Amino acid sequence: MRIDKYLSDCLAITRKESRRLISSGAVSVYGSIVSGAGLHVQGDGVTVDGAPVSAEQVRVIMMDKPAGFLTAAEDSACRTVCDLLPNRFAKFMPIGRLDKDTTGLLLFTSDGGLAHRVISPKYHVEKRYLARIDKPISDKDIESFKSGVALKDFTALPAKLERGEDEYSAYVTVTEGKYHQVKRMFAARGIYVERLRRLSVGDLVLGGMEEGGVRPLTREEEESLYRSVGLRG
Ligand code: URA
Repeated sequence: MRIDKYLSDCLAITRKESRRLISSGAVSVYGSIVSGAGLHVQGDGVTVDGAPVSAEQVRVIMMDKPAGFLTAAEDSACRTVCDLLPNRFAKFMPIGRLDKDTTGLLLFTSDGGLAHRVISPKYHVEKRYLARIDKPISDKDIESFKSGVALKDFTALPAKLERGEDEYSAYVTVTEGKYHQVKRMFAARGIYVERLRRLSVGDLVLGGMEEGGVRPLTREEEESLYRSVGLRG
């Protein structure tokens, strides 16, 4: 891989910032200062200002999940989100799951403790979705989401339902992620979800990549995510 891409992946900086680092003379490979961004590296021996840089420094990445992919490590019949990960992130696991037809923000991590906390309702990490629905929502629907929609097997925790840009779209914010939860909450109110897209998880907002693409969180994003679940970043 080119050194400028390697640095931007590992340090969560832009390619332009990588090239600036290289021109400043801060980047070395096995002790030799790198003079051009086109140098190819395997990932060993890279340092910035003498400090080793490796893909292991990245602990969380985000994907804009496309429809048609299962959230699973592998599946004999269907393509999975892990099939979309570049090799260097092969050990990363999805944090929670999105349905096969749901698109949007999916996080992956190599840190099981973090994954557990982001998923657990105990840590109140808000997940915000945009839903395309088959009928307009009413004030009663908004109230019902707020007080906790009763489903067959459990009562959902209070959730925020807001009207969207038009009458067939709505925003939903939940802090738990049981199987088909958002679709089931709407279904309990007689509303069918035609499309669902996750826009944010906690403070993390989808952006900076194409559909199906991944990017490491920036240092600030990663630290803020860790702090939000009571862990040191
Ligand atoms: N709720 C759902 O119903 N589906 C998803 O993919 C995510 C939340």
